[in-house]
Amino acid sequence: MNAKRAATPDFDSTAFRNALSQFATGVTVITTRAEDGSLIGITASSFNSVSLTPPLILWSLATRAGSMPVFRENSHYVVNVLAADQLDICKRFATMKGDRFAGVPYTLSASGTPVLDGALAWFECHNRSRYDEGDHVIFVGEVERCGVHAQAGDRTPLVFHGGSFHKPQSLG
Ligand SMILES: Cc1cc2nc3c(=O)[nH]c(=O)nc-3n(C[C@H](O)[C@H](O)[C@H](O)COP(=O)(O)O)c2cc1C
Repeated sequence: MNAKRAATPDFDSTAFRNALSQFATGVTVITTRAEDGSLIGITASSFNSVSLTPPLILWSLATRAGSMPVFRENSHYVVNVLAADQLDICKRFATMKGDRFAGVPYTLSASGTPVLDGALAWFECHNRSRYDEGDHVIFVGEVERCGVHAQAGDRTPLVFHGGSFHKPQSLG
């Protein structure tokens, strides 16, 4: 078959979400700094690796997200990979209105972007390209610096699956 266009979906958005939710992901908080110096952060599970050489990652953001104007304009952001003991941080950066960084410990990266204390790993990126697709924008970032926090090996990542949060269990 070599059809020019996709057929109309034979499922509704609930069925689509349900099928997507079977794909377990980690959870990240992606941070940046606005022109006026204010700090921006959002919870995102759409993070993935793209390329080793050059080092590229991607993630996607809903076009309606409040943080979209800042992420569209900014050159740098940091992807923070959350640990299972950071569920409160995950929920805070997904739902809270106002200053999401109040009381949250972080250090500033070389580009002045927050790296959250306690995240398992972090990737500081210069944004390389953006793709408007459907109701999201895909961001492709070139990693300038990355790191794994001390003791990360002893801690478990936060996992999102089936609409709820889990700790992974080793199968050996
Ligand atoms: C586990 C989890 C994963 C999420 N992943 C994404 C994502 O990849 N992209 C996205 O746009 N929103 C995602 N969200 C929703 C955003 O975190 C949420 O809409 C947030 O309020 C956006 O902030 P803003 O409106 O200040 O930009 C996710 C939420 C949760 C709880």
